[in-house]
Amino acid sequence: MAFNPLDEQGLPLQAQFRNWNDLNVAPYDKDKVDPYTRTRVILMNGVEVEAIVFSHQFARNTDNPEIRNALALSRRVEQQQQKAVNGLNPGDQTPLETTIGFEQVAVDLTSWLARHEPDPMLKQALDFALLEDFDHLYRYANLYDLIDGGDATDLTGRLTEITPGRPTILEHRHPIDDVRGHYSTHTVDPLSRLHVMTIVAAEQNTMNFYMNHGTDWIEPIARGLYAEIAMIEEQHVTHYESLIDPLDTWLKQLVFHEYNEVYLYWSMLQQESDTRIRALWELHLDMEIGQLHAASALLRKFEGVDPEEILPPALPDVPLTFEPNKQYVRDILESQYDLRADGVRYVRLDELPDDHRYFEYQATVNAGGTPSETVIDETRSERGRDFRDESEGPNPIDSLRRMVEVKD
Ligand SMILES: [Fe+2]
Ligand SMILES: [Fe+2]
Ligand SMILES: [Fe+2]
Ligand SMILES: [Fe+2]
Repeated sequence: MAFNPLDEQGLPLQAQFRNWNDLNVAPYDKDKVDPYTRTRVILMNGVEVEAIVFSHQFARNTDNPEIRNALALSRRVEQQQQKAVNGLNPGDQTPLETTIGFEQVAVDLTSWLARHEPDPMLKQALDFALLEDFDHLYRYANLYDLIDGGDATDLTGRLTEITPGRPTILEHRHPIDDVRGHYSTHTVDPLSRLHVMTIVAAEQNTMNFYMNHGTDWIEPIARGLYAEIAMIEEQHVTHYESLIDPLDTWLKQLVFHEYNEVYLYWSMLQQESDTRIRALWELHLDMEIGQLHAASALLRKFEGVDPEEILPPALPDVPLTFEPNKQYVRDILESQYDLRADGVRYVRLDELPDDHRYFEYQATVNAGGTPSETVIDETRSERGRDFRDESEGPNPIDSLRRMVEVKD
C-alpha cells in the first residue's frame, strides 16, 4: 500500500527529546544477534551521523537566525537518535568484529541498491565499488583469523561469501579518477536519489570508523591494513558523493535528508526480527516524520516551495532490504573484475595506456609493500591457507582461486 509520509502526523519535533536512560540502551548479544540486525544498526548509525554532519555544515553556511535555531533543535534530536542506535553495539564486540559488520553492510547494501537502481550510470557506480568492499571483507576476515584466531563466519552467519574481489592493492587510484559525473536533480528518479544518499552515508561512516579505529591495535599488520583500506573508503566517499547534484539548495537537501531517514526506518522495521529493536525503528520512523514536517515548513517559508513539489507522492513500494546477494556479487565479479576508472569513465585494464596516472599512483603507494597482500601472506604461512567462505563454489576468477585446495 502506498505510504506517503507527508500525509502522516508523526511525532512533533518539539516533543522528541529523550532522557539518558532512553539513550543508554541495552546492547544486543553479539553471539545471538541476527547478522542483518548488526548491519541495520551499522547502517542507521551512519545515516544519523550524516544527518548531524550535514546539519552542522548547513548551520555554518546560513545567516538566517530562524533556520539556525531550527537546525540546532533538529540536530540535537538527531544526536539523541544516533546514541540510541549506536548504543545497540555491545562493548564486547571488538572494533575488528564491528569492521567485518561494516564490510558486510557494504556488500549487501551496495548489491541490493545496484539490483534495484533504475539509472544505468548509477548502477555502474555501485557495481564498481561493490567489488572493492567485497575484497575488504576478505582482507579483514584474514586479519581476524591471523591476530585473534577468529572465524568471520560467526559474524556474517554465512549470509555473505568471503573470497577475494577486485584486490585491494589494485583499487588505489589517482584522486581525479574517483570523481564522477552527477545526476540532474530535475530528472533523477526519486528512488535513485534515495539510493545515492544512503550509500554516501554508509561509506562516509565506514571512512570515519577506519579513520578513528585504525590505531586500536598493537600489531603493525593491523594498523597498516586499516590505514590502507581507510584510504579506499576516502575514494569511495569521493566517488559516491560526486554523483549527487550539487545545485539543490541547502533547505531542499535538508528535506531530502529527512525523507531518506523516513524511508530507511520504514524499511528497517519491516524486516527486523528483534522485537525490542523493531520498536526503536518504529519510534524513530515517527520522529523522522515529525522532522520532515519541520524541514518542509522551513522550505515553504523561506523558498516558497511545497515539499510535494520535490518529493514523490509515496515511498518506494519495496523497502530497502538486507538479504544475501551471493550470485549477484559473483556475476559482477566475473564481468567487471578488470574494470578501472579513467576520469569519469570506466574502462578495461588493457585499455589504459602504460603512462596513465593510475600506474604512477600505484607505484608510489605500493612501493615498499602493501598490507592487504601481507595479511594474506602471513595468514597462509601461519595457517597453511588463507581464510575464505566460498559457499557457492570456487572464486569465479581463475587468478583469485586458491592455488592449493584445502579441506576446512
Ligand atoms: Fe535521524
Ligand atoms: Fe570497504
Ligand atoms: Fe567502501
Ligand atoms: Fe532526521
